[in-house]
Amino acid sequence: MRALAVGGGAREHAIVAALARSGAEVYACSKNKNPGIFRAAKEHMLVDEMDLHRVVEFAKNTHVDIAVIGPEAPLELGLADALEMAGISTASPKKAAARIETSKSFMRKLLAKYAIRGAAKFVAVDNARDAEKALDSLGTDIVVKPTGLTGGKGVKVFGEHLMSKRDILDYVAEILSKNIGGTPTIVLEEKLVGEEFTVQAFCDGTRVVPMPAVQDHKRAFEGDTGPNTGGMGSYSQNDGLLPFLRRSEYEDAVAIMDSTVKALKTEGAEYRGTLYGQFMLTRDGPKVIEFNARFGDPEAMNVLSLLEGDFAQMCEGMASGNISRSRLQFTRKASVCKYIVPEGYGVKSLSGQEISVDEKAIADKGAILYYASVNEQDGRVFTTSSRSVGIVGIADVIDEAEAIAESAIGHVSGRIHVRHDIAKKEMLDAKIARMDRIRRGEL
Ligand code: AMP
Ligand code: GLY
Repeated sequence: MRALAVGGGAREHAIVAALARSGAEVYACSKNKNPGIFRAAKEHMLVDEMDLHRVVEFAKNTHVDIAVIGPEAPLELGLADALEMAGISTASPKKAAARIETSKSFMRKLLAKYAIRGAAKFVAVDNARDAEKALDSLGTDIVVKPTGLTGGKGVKVFGEHLMSKRDILDYVAEILSKNIGGTPTIVLEEKLVGEEFTVQAFCDGTRVVPMPAVQDHKRAFEGDTGPNTGGMGSYSQNDGLLPFLRRSEYEDAVAIMDSTVKALKTEGAEYRGTLYGQFMLTRDGPKVIEFNARFGDPEAMNVLSLLEGDFAQMCEGMASGNISRSRLQFTRKASVCKYIVPEGYGVKSLSGQEISVDEKAIADKGAILYYASVNEQDGRVFTTSSRSVGIVGIADVIDEAEAIAESAIGHVSGRIHVRHDIAKKEMLDAKIARMDRIRRGEL
């Protein structure tokens, strides 16, 4: 099978590695020269992933049987639609189904219309007066979100980024005047209190096959402080749950995803591809924070590193609407992923800096290396403004996986930043204790 992977980050390196493991001949295109993807691919084209015409031409010229799209922006533009129009099966959703990520108001309204469990209270507004009125019903303990894509940087939370009603209304005015997110609509929603977790699932329009739960860490600095980022690292547990997450709660989250996929089908927007559910585990169970129309980054590195079986066939199944024959399993091990990012990432990254990556030493430590948004030039690796390298440790328990990842991180050097606290025992214990208090109604 010949497979196309679109995108040049660590998520896409993990996708390419999983496709290659299942025997596919991989073709890849991305705007940066990711050395991991470049080496694994039979052919690679440097191209702006938003240039639908060139991506489709590349797919046709390389005669691929299947395409997988990593990032959300080309999904929003309709890359999956364009590939399908050209006769190429695509294991990523079309524009209409991708609205589950690209329009936060569409997502909230869908959950409300189909009375899907796990919905949060919300009001969607497109002017300042309605925003002010909405605060009368919602109160100020809310989260303000531009409805469109903002690369994870548009969400502001009361008590963290917004301290008063005035701050909320000022931010609403800013979103409207600067057209943040590309559409002048804003979602004001209930602030959920709990622990966040991610469930990703393979979907074929009707069926949902869930993967192990993962917890990402969005904040740039240790102790979950600092600006929100694309994600600094993530972990998963050997039984597919998380230290603070019970099986019944995981199953509730999967049921929410299942209902959402069914609702999309009823709306005439069949969801085929990987669906990413981000949940807040609250006192009342899992509630939806957001959906993404793709693998998570870093979460893809956790689950795809554990995947056994034919990923390429699963992609075919998602694209063709029949995943029932696909046999996949996840190794019953824990995974810990830590991202190495350029200094300043989250505020202003030091891009264009050379970093040195000792691949052999990393492999000798038993860790897996995924290159992210770097550029390779004459055998040297340079940072961009985005994340640089993902390091994954796999072991029976989280502690051991964390130690493997940590032992390998020192083999990447340069002006870089890492969150060493991710998946450390103290952090996990604190999360378990906090969740216990939330369950008891103390927080
Ligand atoms: P998002 O870009 O939607 O993933 O939001 C970024 C971050 O904002 C999330 O990871 C959460 O930490 C936080 N967040 C988003 N929505 C809510 C909510 N309704 N309640 C509490 N926190 C939220
Ligand atoms: N890890 C968050 C995301 O992929 O959006």
